[in-house]
Amino acid sequence: MNAADMIRFELDGREIDAAPGESILQAARRAGTDIPHLCYTDGLRADGNCRACVVEIDGERVLAPSCCRAPKAGMKVKAESERARASQRMVLELLRADVPAAAEKPDSELAHWCEELGVTESRFAPRDQPAPDRSHPGIAVNLAACIQCTRCLRACREVQVNDVIGLAQRGADTAIVFDFNDPMGTSSCVGCGECVQACPTGALLPAALADLLGQTVSEPVAVRGAFAEQPALAP
Ligand code: FES
Repeated sequence: MNAADMIRFELDGREIDAAPGESILQAARRAGTDIPHLCYTDGLRADGNCRACVVEIDGERVLAPSCCRAPKAGMKVKAESERARASQRMVLELLRADVPAAAEKPDSELAHWCEELGVTESRFAPRDQPAPDRSHPGIAVNLAACIQCTRCLRACREVQVNDVIGLAQRGADTAIVFDFNDPMGTSSCVGCGECVQACPTGALLPAALADLLGQTVSEPVAVRGAFAEQPALAP
């Protein structure tokens, strides 16, 4: 990389050089400074849907998602200001509300960022929780722990080009589904595990690990909200 191509900006008072095409988050991480993030992971297209990575940019009224924002030369960015931190914590608290402790992987990325930012509990009520799906021999699905970051979807679609995982419904009823809302074990999933690697909460786990964590259940698959009431698709 030619040094002349680098874009120098300031992050929390420290000068950082971003390579062309890098986001603020990518440049910060390469320079050894991490910013909370959940829907972003290296190797997948940034989606900007969780808002855990928001930062303050001098001269801008609205906080910006650092995973999707390219730095400009001379830009002054604050990831640790009071306002940025309050917003990052609020996002974590909202996401945490939907993830019952029993459903979460203990060393998950969500748990890591909650600990880093001191989010120990949530003031918000959880939504209705779908039942676990243990229909697949190798992968345990527990969408109670899903924060809909879509990393699994992007890993399935963009890395493996399988396109088994999708999002159904809208707003509060949005849910991850496999094919046409099939149990994972009868979907077209090939069991590659790419989605399990991508999941930041433990909504998708190796079945053996779910067993170790005591998540072995054999309840019927259920889905959130109105999707369950939709008529079946014609064959
Ligand atoms: Fe940036 Fe989710 S990590 S919006």
